[in-house]
Amino acid sequence: GKIVIAIDGYSGCGKSSTAKAVAKALGFTYIDSGAMYRAATLHFLNHFLSPSNPNDVEKGLKSLEISFQINPDTQKQETYLNGLNVEDQIRTMKVSERVSEVATVKQIRKELVAKQQRLGKRKGVVMDGRDIGSVVFPDAELKVFMTADLETRAARRQQELLDKGEMVDLEEIKTNLAERDRIDSSRVESPLIKTPDAVEIDTSNLTFDGQVAQIVQLAKA
Ligand code: C5P
Repeated sequence: GKIVIAIDGYSGCGKSSTAKAVAKALGFTYIDSGAMYRAATLHFLNHFLSPSNPNDVEKGLKSLEISFQINPDTQKQETYLNGLNVEDQIRTMKVSERVSEVATVKQIRKELVAKQQRLGKRKGVVMDGRDIGSVVFPDAELKVFMTADLETRAARRQQELLDKGEMVDLEEIKTNLAERDRIDSSRVESPLIKTPDAVEIDTSNLTFDGQVAQIVQLAKA
C-alpha cells in the first residue's frame, strides 16, 4: 500500500540527508519540501518581488514553476526553477536569510502544499519539512520530529557550505538557524510543531547511520 513518512523538525538537523537515505533504504521517493520554499524565495529575489506585497505575491506565483530532476551522472535529485537548475543557488546564505519570511505567506504555502500533496500520491514517499506531519500529510503512517542542539546543527551546516565553496562564519550560521526556527515556530500559517503522534529523535549524539537505521526500523515495524 501507499506509505508516507513525514520528517519535520528544526533547521539544520540533517532532516534532508536522513530522509534521502531512508528513502533509498526503503526504495521510496524522497521529496524535499524545503527546496520548494527555497526555489520560491530565489524567484522572488531574482525578480525583486516582495513577499509582503500581495500584488508581488500574485505575480511571483503566476510565474513560478518548480520541478525536481535526477542528475543522470550523480543520480542525485536536483531542483529546477522555471527550467533552470538552481540546486546550488537555493542552498546559499542569501536564500537562507530570506526563506522563512517567504514561507510565512499563506498563498505561497497553499500552492506549495498542493504540489507536495500531488507528489505524495506516488506510493512510498519520504518528505521532509516543517508542516509535513501536521498539514501536508496529517495521515502519514510514520511521523518523525528531528531535533539537535544548535551548536551541532551549526557546525554541520558550516561544513556543508564549505563543501560547496561558501565560507561562512559559525556565528552567522547559528544566528540564521535560530532566526529561522523562531519565525517557523511562531508564524500564524502552519507553524513548525511536533504533533502528538510524532516520534522525536534527537540526533545530537547519534551517528548518521544510526539515525537512518532507527527510522527505517520504525517504518518497517
Ligand atoms: O528544510 P529547509 O531548511 O531547506 O527549509 C528552508 C525553510 O523553508 C525553512 O526554514 C522554513 O522557513 C521553510 N519551510 C517551511 N515548510 C516546509 C519546509 C520548509 O516553511 N515544509
